Amino acid sequence: MAVQISPSILSADFARLADEAAAVPNADWLHVDVMDNHFVPNLTLGLPIVESLLKATSTPLDCHLMIEDPDRWAPQYAEAGAGSVTIHAEAAKAPVRTLRQIRKLGARSGLALNPATAVEPYEGLFGEIDMLLLMTVEPGFGGQKFLDMVLPKIRRARELIQRHGGQIWLQVDGGVAADTIERCADAGADVFVAGSAVFGADDRAAAVDALRAAATR
Ligand code: DX5
Ligand code: ZN
Repeated sequence: MAVQISPSILSADFARLADEAAAVPNADWLHVDVMDNHFVPNLTLGLPIVESLLKATSTPLDCHLMIEDPDRWAPQYAEAGAGSVTIHAEAAKAPVRTLRQIRKLGARSGLALNPATAVEPYEGLFGEIDMLLLMTVEPGFGGQKFLDMVLPKIRRARELIQRHGGQIWLQVDGGVAADTIERCADAGADVFVAGSAVFGADDRAAAVDALRAAATR
């Protein structure tokens, strides 16, 4: 299982997204946090900016939809050309249909769980997903403190994934930084989102390399 790093542009300069993307050529993905001020108490960006960003970078986009109606919007991100589209289990009303549409439109399908959402009830959806995202902060803002309470769930999710053949990627998002990434990797995560730890650094590419090295140890 190779380690992948997905810097979150939530902590980047939104007026210079093309430059910010270019500053992390060693990233596997660019994590794009879409927030609608309903599912989470914050508002960020939507489809038009994702479409522009797709033209501005060759790094694949990992779109994390923190929105109330993912069933309506998620397929459009896949259709636009996002490499991965993740919907929240707490928000989706027709997750099977939506996850299938995402795949059919050529993107990887992802399912996200908030810190207090158990993984077991969603095992039945594992056949529909390419990635499981476990939030390690309450979604909505960058720069929050990593929640250690999620570590046992990461381990549990890894066990369930292995039981299902081990193909599903296990992503963690929130408070992932030099001092927390090893714990996540040790618990079984393999895709790491980092916002402030990358775009808050002077040398963003070096921060990506350092996170990758720490997760690989
Ligand atoms: C939070 C977002 C994260 C955020 C992480 O709701 O989903 O992707 O950018 O930021 P850091 O890494 O600063 O915790
Ligand atoms: Zn995110």
